[in-house]
Amino acid sequence: MRDWTATAEAYDRSFATLCDGAAARLLADLPGGDLLDAGCGTGRLAQQAERAGRTVTALDADESMVEAARARLRGQVLRAALPDLPLPDARESAIAANFVLNHVGRPRAAHAELRRALRPGGRLAMTIWPAGGASWSALLREVFETAGAVLPPPERLPADEDFDRSADGLAELARDAQLEALTACDLHWDWRIRPEDLWAGLEAGIATPGAVVRAQTPPVRDRIQELLAARAADLADAEGHLTFPVRAAYVLAERPSDEEA
Ligand SMILES: C[S@@+](CC[C@H](N)C(=O)[O-])C[C@H]1O[C@@H](n2cnc3c(N)ncnc32)[C@H](O)[C@@H]1O
Repeated sequence: MRDWTATAEAYDRSFATLCDGAAARLLADLPGGDLLDAGCGTGRLAQQAERAGRTVTALDADESMVEAARARLRGQVLRAALPDLPLPDARESAIAANFVLNHVGRPRAAHAELRRALRPGGRLAMTIWPAGGASWSALLREVFETAGAVLPPPERLPADEDFDRSADGLAELARDAQLEALTACDLHWDWRIRPEDLWAGLEAGIATPGAVVRAQTPPVRDRIQELLAARAADLADAEGHLTFPVRAAYVLAERPSDEEA
C-alpha cells in the first residue's frame, strides 16, 4: 500500500486537517479512560484525547509519523503496523482507527488483530473514505485533466482482501471479525484549508491525488501547481481558505462482552 515515509510534516499541514473532522465523533462514542490510537499519524486525535484527560497509547507504521506523534503526545507512541501489534490480548477498552483501515494491505487480518487487542465489551471506532469521490478530489481531477497529467493505475487490493468502501462494507468487515457493529453511518463536515497547505500535501505525494502529482514530469507538476493556484484564487474565501464538503464512512463496533477473552 501507499508509502508514508517522511511525510509527517506535509501531512500535518494538509490532509491531517481533513481527518480531524471525524475525531470528535470517535472520541465521543468511545468509553472514557485509556485509549489506543491505531494509525495515529501525527497524533492529533490522540492529543485531543489527552487534553480531555485520557491516557493514550498511539501507534503508527511510519517512522516520521511516530516521531511527530511523540513530539505531540505525553503517552507512549509505538512504531507498529497492522495486522501485527505488539500488544497483549484483550487489554484495550477503546480503540480509534481514524482513516487507517483504508490504507492497510490486509484489512480482514487488521480487524482480527484489533479485536484480539480489545477486551470483551471494548469498543473500536473507525472511519474510512467511501467510494464515489470527494468534492476536493473533483477539483483536483479537473486541474489534472487541464494540465495533461497522466494518471497512474489505481491502487487496488486483491479481490479476496478488498471490501466495499462504505459504512455498510466496513460494518461487514467488523462482523466478519466477530465484532458487533453498533453504528454504521456517514459523517459529514466541511474541510477548510489554505491552497498552499493543500499543495504541500500533494507535493509530498499524500492521498491518491498526491500520488498523481508525484507521477508527473516536473513541467506537468509545475502546470498543476499553477492551475491549482489560479482555481484556488477564484474559490477561496476572504481569509484565503478553500472549503470542501466532506463525507466519511464511520463504524462503531464492540467486542461482545458475553465471551471469554
Ligand atoms: C490518513 S492517515 C490517518 C492518520 C490519523 N489517524 C489521523 O486521523 O490524522 C493514515 C495513517 O495510517 C498509517 N498506516 C498505514 N498503514 C498502516 C498499518 N498497516 N498499521 C498502522 N498504521 C498504518 C499511516 O502511516 C498514516 O499515518
